Amino acid sequence: MKIVVLDGYTLNPGDLSWDALNALGDCSFYDFTLPGQVVERAAGAEAVLTNKVSLTRSHLESLPDLRYIGVLATGFNMVDIQTARERNIPVSNVPAYGTASVSQMTFALLLELTQHIGHHARTVQDGLWAESLYFCYWDYPLIELAGLTMGIIGLGNIGQAVSRLARAFEMPVIAYTPRPKAGIAADINLVGLETVFQESDVVSLHCPLTPDTEKLVNADRLSLMKPSAFLINTSRGGLVNEPDLADALNSGGIAGAGLDVVSVEPPVPDNPLFTARNCIVTPHIAWATRAARARLMATVVENLKAYMAGKPQNVVNL
Ligand code: NAI
Repeated sequence: MKIVVLDGYTLNPGDLSWDALNALGDCSFYDFTLPGQVVERAAGAEAVLTNKVSLTRSHLESLPDLRYIGVLATGFNMVDIQTARERNIPVSNVPAYGTASVSQMTFALLLELTQHIGHHARTVQDGLWAESLYFCYWDYPLIELAGLTMGIIGLGNIGQAVSRLARAFEMPVIAYTPRPKAGIAADINLVGLETVFQESDVVSLHCPLTPDTEKLVNADRLSLMKPSAFLINTSRGGLVNEPDLADALNSGGIAGAGLDVVSVEPPVPDNPLFTARNCIVTPHIAWATRAARARLMATVVENLKAYMAGKPQNVVNL
């Protein structure tokens, strides 16, 4: 079986092994693939694996041998799953591999906003503490999390893990999620979407990017937030209307934002969030601990084996 990995570099920049995948067929690995190279590289492949390379209707219609798409991630918004469904091609993703790492990153961003550790450590290296009259100083308001309300949008694996961390910080938790599943912790107060924006001190996004959730955070909803509130996004950049968020930050409509994702990645250099007030942006690293990537690799292999055995698993579109 011919297997093509369109953009394998970020999953395995060299610290993991492709051996288990190699054992399943005739594999071609590309570090990354431009949109115009997809058809040429995937031609004749039965299985195509992608992390962030888009597979559009036109790509799928030009790949008559394609029978299986493996997503090297949880979010699968880069695949036209409707067209894949029409063509009876299962699309398998990797759920849950990144739950611990992404929820940890959510708090890393939030704690950076409340303590500005990076900034203060740099001032010490620059000699400011040694020159100070006082035994301490701080350049930003320092904020205690205990008692602040955490508002979660999307109460799946990561949203629930974030709620557990929030409870450990003694934060009451409110959440919006459509069709809540049984087993959600009793101390999470389920509320409407607008209420999350109105009542939270921290709004944290953990829903997938879909046509329904695109630009879910916009000027109207930002205007509902407290001026002291923070927005955290470790999910997908497309959930946020970025010029609206930059305006809210620059005008003092909200106090700060911590973002691991932006709408276009790699970003355009003049993304307005890069210069917005109290906005911390990291380059989509929440998923990338070695532990999480190793789990991801193992499930990618299991997904492909399941397809080969005639019982595809983690299918998101059929
Ligand atoms: P999940 O599928 O377990 O949970 C998603 C939740 O969002 C579900 O409870 C679902 O009901 C809810 N949801 C669906 N539509 C919604 C809507 N319109 N409004 C509010 N909630 C809605 O997924 P998981 O594992 O928790 O991951 C969440 C997202 O995190 C992924 O879709 C992905 O985009 C992102 N992610 C980001 C990573 C990073 O490196 N920054 C790594 C892994 C995931």
